[in-house]
Amino acid sequence: MDMDFYDTETGVLKRSIFADEGVYELELTRIFARAWNFMCHESQIPEPGDFFMNTIGEDEVIAVRGRDRRINVLLNTCAHRGNSVCRAEFGNVRSFFCSYHGWNYDLDGSLIGVRGEDVFYRGNLDRKAWGLTPAAQVATYRGFVFATLDPGAPALEEYLGWVGRLGIDLVASRGEVEFLDGVRKNRVKCNWKLAVDNVYDWYHVQVSHGSALKVGVLREESLRPMQQIVVLGDYGHGIGGPGLSEEEFDEAVERVKNGGGKRQFYDGRVAERMAPATQRELGPVGKRVLGHPNIFPNLWISSTPEICLRIPRGPDETELWWFAYRTRDMDERKRRAALHVTNHLFAPGGLLEQDDGENWSHATRSAKGRFARQLPLNFTMGKGADRVTADASGQRGIETVVNEHGQRWTWQSWQEWMRAESWQDLMASRSAPPTGVV
Ligand code: FES
Ligand code: FE
Repeated sequence: MDMDFYDTETGVLKRSIFADEGVYELELTRIFARAWNFMCHESQIPEPGDFFMNTIGEDEVIAVRGRDRRINVLLNTCAHRGNSVCRAEFGNVRSFFCSYHGWNYDLDGSLIGVRGEDVFYRGNLDRKAWGLTPAAQVATYRGFVFATLDPGAPALEEYLGWVGRLGIDLVASRGEVEFLDGVRKNRVKCNWKLAVDNVYDWYHVQVSHGSALKVGVLREESLRPMQQIVVLGDYGHGIGGPGLSEEEFDEAVERVKNGGGKRQFYDGRVAERMAPATQRELGPVGKRVLGHPNIFPNLWISSTPEICLRIPRGPDETELWWFAYRTRDMDERKRRAALHVTNHLFAPGGLLEQDDGENWSHATRSAKGRFARQLPLNFTMGKGADRVTADASGQRGIETVVNEHGQRWTWQSWQEWMRAESWQDLMASRSAPPTGVV
């Protein structure tokens, strides 16, 4: 397959990648089966036997807490004929019982019961060889559980790097996080990468979400098109969107401390970050970002109290999974406000992503056209016009106006993942996050 999808020199992308079956198949192998994929938050499965069903690419997996309290991630496919051993989205079980012929698996995936083992199998079945297949590695960062199917993947924290960790720190630093039961799911007829690309897209908002702005669901002052911060990280992770200057951050801290003054839209976010320990934890750039982290490939950490997985369901279909969370110290008023936000902005009942989904599905549909698929897409906004600056702490960021730096970094990294034959190859061939002029 020709692997020249994205031209880093010109910022031009081939749109066939949003429709091509071969590209999609390779993504399942070289991106999803290889990456650390988000499974769930530890608070969703606190007790032994608690499980949460998720997917890695198109492989269904069960994240389940074992009797030893460790989290196992098991492929949801019976070793006998491949039936699913679990049909529920989440819950608590003592074991996994297959509804086809009745094989029974323990919480660590080991085969503990075979109907007719002595009589039908005549004692010739090696149970140890026929358990549920576990993920190659499972690890947790600040309550976020990840798994990879690739034994060659680097350790989770190394994979996340400081930018991926910061994306999660922005949630974890809010307090003791508790994910709510029930994930809001809907499907959009679009390629999953268009939904990922959009995480960094602060150019579309006034147009696509014009109606939300008109009715006041979205506020103009939250967009800050002239003041954005983009942070680019290892393996394609990034953060992009509105940001505060250092002066604005300090002014907001004073305002919040004094409990008065003209409240700005972002004062609430600053209030969560004003403790010196939190500021140290997030760092001088991290504490000032208000935009969206994406943990490559497909975990969007929203600035609202929720996160979203963009799950591929074929080249032209994506399932969006919205997980809502609260902090345990929230009073009733704050809980209600958080609930209002999570119900009204995104997910099936929200206003914003219905607008986005329309656009993504039309972009996907046009990529199928025999003529249109050969046409390039333009990712040149701000290219060559900005600079990555490093803080004394070592944190790097691009502080500028609305731009497409995050998208370009995503395409460059995605292409490197697609070209690499293995983790070893990817680690050796990948580009380091850019420095200097971008
Ligand atoms: Fe599971 Fe036969 S398919 S027991
Ligand atoms: Fe949008």
